[in-house]
Amino acid sequence: MREEELQFEYIEKLKAYVSNLERELGHQPTCCVTTFGCQMNARDSEKLVGILQEAGYKLTENENSDFVIYNTCTVRDNANQKVYGRLGVLNGYKKKNPRMKIALCGCMMQEEKVIDKLRTSYPFVDLVFGTHNIFKFAELLVSMFESKGMIVDIWKDTDQIVEDLPVSRKYSYKSGVNIMFGCNNFCSYCIVPYVRGRERSREPKDIIREIENLVADGVVEVMLLGQNVNSYGKNLKNPITFAELLQEIEKIEGLQRIRFMTSHPKDLSPELIKVMKQSGKICKHLHLPLQSGSTRILEKMNRRYTKEGYLELALKIRKEIPDIAITTDIIVGFPGETIEDVQDTLDVIRQVKFDNAFTFIYSQRTGTPAAAMVQVPEEVVKKHFDMVLTEVQNTAREQVSKYEGQTMEALIEEVNENDSTMVTGRLSNNTIVHVKGDKSLIGKILPVQLTSCHGFYYIGDIKR
Ligand code: 5AD
Ligand code: SF4
Repeated sequence: MREEELQFEYIEKLKAYVSNLERELGHQPTCCVTTFGCQMNARDSEKLVGILQEAGYKLTENENSDFVIYNTCTVRDNANQKVYGRLGVLNGYKKKNPRMKIALCGCMMQEEKVIDKLRTSYPFVDLVFGTHNIFKFAELLVSMFESKGMIVDIWKDTDQIVEDLPVSRKYSYKSGVNIMFGCNNFCSYCIVPYVRGRERSREPKDIIREIENLVADGVVEVMLLGQNVNSYGKNLKNPITFAELLQEIEKIEGLQRIRFMTSHPKDLSPELIKVMKQSGKICKHLHLPLQSGSTRILEKMNRRYTKEGYLELALKIRKEIPDIAITTDIIVGFPGETIEDVQDTLDVIRQVKFDNAFTFIYSQRTGTPAAAMVQVPEEVVKKHFDMVLTEVQNTAREQVSKYEGQTMEALIEEVNENDSTMVTGRLSNNTIVHVKGDKSLIGKILPVQLTSCHGFYYIGDIKR
């Protein structure tokens, strides 16, 4: 039997358990899915919600519910600490609601020491699974209902890509689309290749079909997701490049915007720049993680490019596509990093003028090569971090304000969180703009005059 069919059988079984539970509780069982980490996890959570809703659960935002699942991240240690802290709160809820079930999944669960800690200190957790068997969620839930005690099912790896299970999208007008899973790069600080496994690309025809279905369902913008989209397609039976895939996606009628992340500088091809330049749908935004501007540190990081190589690439992209926004990730405090290395990073920031940058303090991850290197003292890292942060804020402010007074298209995404008479939209270059309007505008792409820039966002007016 195909895996999908098998899982649909489990969903039917699950429905019976959930309706039993409903009788016992006297109300429709509620569920809450909390996501930590990146867009990949956000997409995975939509799959979890899809199955829970299909099974009969009612989705809530409140963690004091009948089923709670944390989809975890482990890229930095503070993500792990957050999960442990919040589990304590969940335990309190569970004491008052003994039928409550608690599940954990995602990257953090792929670490052995985490599982050991859960078994000894968090025995009230009912179900634990990892990144490779998430497609078995329905089956795992059935096991959870059929047994007592903690169920732990962690796979070391998988080559399976299971499609077509229920998905519940968070936004009606935009969606993430996985184009590949895993990573082969082994940057020396990064735990992702250990917890997400080897790189596997989806077949182009499956990706296209998924996007066509999304568009038929009202989606106008897709975000193509992969740890390193620039190496997409290399391991397929009929290899295809990422640039070729983009050209195929561009042809999909009704689709209006294409985004993607993340790009590794070492694999970004001239062909991709050309395709981005010519495209009417690919957004004017490239997320191109720098990590460090020092060639010496980049080598220790196993990034396989130099300061000069990065600069050449970024400045070429700026020249070819002048209105593009380039954003980045920077790690401060990698083992052995000195003030000279930080100066190199500052230099790259000034030359590229990043439109936005996520700056992270290096976090030691067990099992990665960098964890065994000599670490930089915390006070030094803090000082360097502040220097980098100030610089990226300066360039971001300057870059974002460049378009003041101009009219650009914005996809209206949601009602403004602080002012319900306004809605929040996103420009092609990823900048946020707030305009007067109501929820009827959500999902529409409208021309907006960027009236005034307020640091990192605009206040604007819809041009009719
Ligand atoms: N410490 C700090 N930041 C890290 N990242 C990945 N691993 C670590 C780590 N050990 C950052 C990188 C990556 C982003 C998703 O997270 O900058 O691009
Ligand atoms: Fe981690 Fe490097 Fe892979 Fe990105 S490319 S996921 S930083 S190993």
